[in-house]
Amino acid sequence: MPRLIPPVVAPGFLASSPQPTIPVAENLVLRPWAEADAPVAVEAFADPEIQRWHFQRLDSIDEAHNWIAGLGRGWDAETSANWAIVDTTTDLPIGRVGLTRVELVGGRGEVSYWLLPTARGRGVASRSVIALACWAFAHLGLQRLELKHSVDNPASCRVAGRAGFDAEGTMSQALFHDDGWHDMHLHARLRPGC
Ligand SMILES: CC(C)(COP(=O)(O)OP(=O)(O)OC[C@H]1O[C@@H](n2cnc3c(N)ncnc32)[C@H](O)[C@@H]1OP(=O)(O)O)[C@@H](O)C(=O)NCCC(=O)NCCS
Repeated sequence: MPRLIPPVVAPGFLASSPQPTIPVAENLVLRPWAEADAPVAVEAFADPEIQRWHFQRLDSIDEAHNWIAGLGRGWDAETSANWAIVDTTTDLPIGRVGLTRVELVGGRGEVSYWLLPTARGRGVASRSVIALACWAFAHLGLQRLELKHSVDNPASCRVAGRAGFDAEGTMSQALFHDDGWHDMHLHARLRPGC
């Protein structure tokens, strides 16, 4: 069926180009996940806070390799785009930031992130989200980025605020967790935002 308005971003834009490395700050970049990052991924998903908010566990290096390969497939399918937040002095990931539910035609995506426990508390998440949002608006051409978190996750709410995502409201019983349904804050940031 013919569509009556043009796509915000032409399908094929992501899949036709290699995933870039995005600078964040001194000694901090976003780069694509690599197979060699598997041990860090296993370590990250052993953290109770990451398990609590991301509902996943990786039990082996093989599972981590599959997880990393899946991130690459998301880029190729143009449905998600995930980066390792990397300390350039070691070239090791200290966290993950990405876009999920990417809709190029509608110009939207959703931001998500986690950090290894040792990387928390020094603004790494908010600076990484800002760098990703600027890339998503300026280079990819999305119009709207959403960020959702449980009302029981105040640190994530602070990241949203520091990264310029306005609060738009509370979504009742929006996500099922291991302790039941959680209300979620909806935040969003619009282009031009950088
Ligand atoms: C949420 C997370 C990414 C925040 O990363 P971070 O780099 O430590 O965040 P920042 O250093 O930018 O700090 C965020 C703010 O939250 C505050 N904060 C941290 N833990 C908090 C807590 N338990 N309760 C309330 N505020 C908290 C910090 O003091 C800081 O406040 P400030 O902006 O007034 O300085 C990190 O804690 C994490 O990976 N948590 C586990 C996974 C997760 O929650 N992912 C997000 C799911 S939506």
